[in-house]
Amino acid sequence: MEELNTKVHITPEFVLKNPVMVASGTFGYGLEFTEFMNISQIGAIVVKGLSLKPRAGNPPPRIIETPAGLINAIGLQNIGVEHFVKDKLPELRRLGATVVANIFGERVDEYREVARILDGVEGISAIEVNISCPNVKKGGLKFGQDPASAREVVAAVREATGLPLITKLSPDAPDLKAMIEAVEEAGTDAISLVNTIPAMAIDVEKRRPVLSTVTGGLSGPAIKPIALRLVWQAASVAKVPVIGIGGIMNGRDALEFIIAGARAVQVGTLNLVEPRGAMKVIKEIEAYMRQHRIENIEALTGSLVLPER
Ligand SMILES: Cc1cc2nc3c(=O)[nH]c(=O)nc-3n(C[C@H](O)[C@H](O)[C@H](O)COP(=O)(O)O)c2cc1C
Repeated sequence: MEELNTKVHITPEFVLKNPVMVASGTFGYGLEFTEFMNISQIGAIVVKGLSLKPRAGNPPPRIIETPAGLINAIGLQNIGVEHFVKDKLPELRRLGATVVANIFGERVDEYREVARILDGVEGISAIEVNISCPNVKKGGLKFGQDPASAREVVAAVREATGLPLITKLSPDAPDLKAMIEAVEEAGTDAISLVNTIPAMAIDVEKRRPVLSTVTGGLSGPAIKPIALRLVWQAASVAKVPVIGIGGIMNGRDALEFIIAGARAVQVGTLNLVEPRGAMKVIKEIEAYMRQHRIENIEALTGSLVLPER
């Protein structure tokens, strides 16, 4: 068999060497993982969400285990965009990593400003816009729940930068199709989904919530079937490429998302359980390609065979 072609095109200029990315917030700024692997071999590293100013995040407890995943309420702790560009990016560039900057803000201008700072910075391949955080002006409703707010955020980021844009969608958007249309109209180049699913846990002895914030976001194997259904639905309406996320723990999980229509995938919670997990997923996808004589990974995207009705 010829060499395997694992390259995936998110846009004509944003091409990944393989379809496996690591998800924001689960791989630090990438440099924390250099002792476990050659980080240039990962499709792309989506770094921890960046805001205009550094943020301390929420007080503990802010992460708990469930039978099949985690609930986290980290609260978007980060070092701030300028610190990242100055102190982390040069080393990521030196190591040859493909870097996607995940960004967020509490106001539309904050998103615009973070994107403007990243525009033209060498070593950033794309921006992922996290619209799952509360819109301060709209009383805390998430940008990701309202298509008009999402459109406004993505249009502002689009105006601020020529970098390829991925918009990361919430799993709890009331109308996924309307949301996808809104962010496409605003100029996103791709969409990624899902972010964590709102969840909670209670300590019955104390009759108190376990997390300091009461609710948090569920990730890991528990959410995979829901995420897969959402990615399949998104891929059937989206005009732009879809990146699948949610509970991917091995190559077969990743292949399910790709067959459902995802051009690429992101692995999150897996990195916290097995630091070399992303490399394992890449190897398992390659083994499947060899076994099934698939030379080009893009031939698998959306290859789902539906039952005849
Ligand atoms: C500890 C933790 C921190 C996260 N931080 C972010 C973040 O800063 N920005 C973001 O867009 N998503 C964040 N996420 C969501 C993940 O990127 C991913 O969308 C989600 O965990 C689902 O994938 P998984 O089931 O493979 O973990 C975080 C998830 C976890 C578990």
